[in-house]
Amino acid sequence: MAAELIYGKNIAAAIQSELAETIQQLKSQGVVPGLVTILVGEDPASQSYVRAKNNTARVLGIHSEQRNLPTDTSEQELLALIAACNRDPAIHGILVQLPLPGQINEAKILASIDPAKDVDGFHPVNVGKMVLGEPCLLPCTPHGIVELLLRSGVEVTGAEVVVVGRSNIVGKPVANLLIQKRQGGNATVTLCHTRTKDMAFHTRRADILIVAAGVPKMITADMVKEGAVVIDVGVNRIGMSESGKAILAGDVDFAGVAEKVRAITPVPGGVGPMTITMLMHNTVQAAKTAAGIQL
Ligand code: GUN
Repeated sequence: MAAELIYGKNIAAAIQSELAETIQQLKSQGVVPGLVTILVGEDPASQSYVRAKNNTARVLGIHSEQRNLPTDTSEQELLALIAACNRDPAIHGILVQLPLPGQINEAKILASIDPAKDVDGFHPVNVGKMVLGEPCLLPCTPHGIVELLLRSGVEVTGAEVVVVGRSNIVGKPVANLLIQKRQGGNATVTLCHTRTKDMAFHTRRADILIVAAGVPKMITADMVKEGAVVIDVGVNRIGMSESGKAILAGDVDFAGVAEKVRAITPVPGGVGPMTITMLMHNTVQAAKTAAGIQL
């Protein structure tokens, strides 16, 4: 039996229309949510992500500014730009696209963003609050994955969840969200990584398998349990079409795995649109908090 496809794209569109309404209500109270995205360098994948974030923001009615800095930008220059954005009352959200060039200390940059404007949820204060289960700006991809599971009716409570990948952006935070004692949490989570001894032993036990390893097609059909739900976070550029468009593959061997599982996210059109949507959600959240408005 073929798997159900979990189209993040459709769920993202539903959340975005809710957000568009909230944004109109904020505007009627004189508040325009403002986002600044900062891109250092010319990595084509990062350029395309940042462009998509800005486009979505504008479509929803968020004031959106994109700052492009050259690859040889110094840490001091980037810190100065962030400090200016921290002070700017029209800006509620600051996003520094990662990865950054080698001369810039990523941790130092992320810690310099005002936690109230940290719409990526990467500042140590927000990471700490997330782990403690306190209200905060949550990281976009992990939050998007939880929303995707909730809105597609996948039972998370008590599920055996296996996460592959331990990045600060996806693996560590999604594992953390899924163990929280609240709706969208209460799972039993195993986190696998490059030093895991027998990866397939773990992945085969998963009711819900979340893969964010950055390795194209690494999860094959023999590594999944029949009837599992698979969330593929990978976006790997495996080639270029004749028209010059990037050909994308997930971390999951889609054709083989889709034969065996209950549901799976496609790449593209799965998790990606959820990440962008949760960024919009965070920008609106930050604007509401700054204005002291509860809608
Ligand atoms: N690079 C890859 N994913 C992300 C993300 O969610 N936020 C930022 N800022 N950079 C990224």
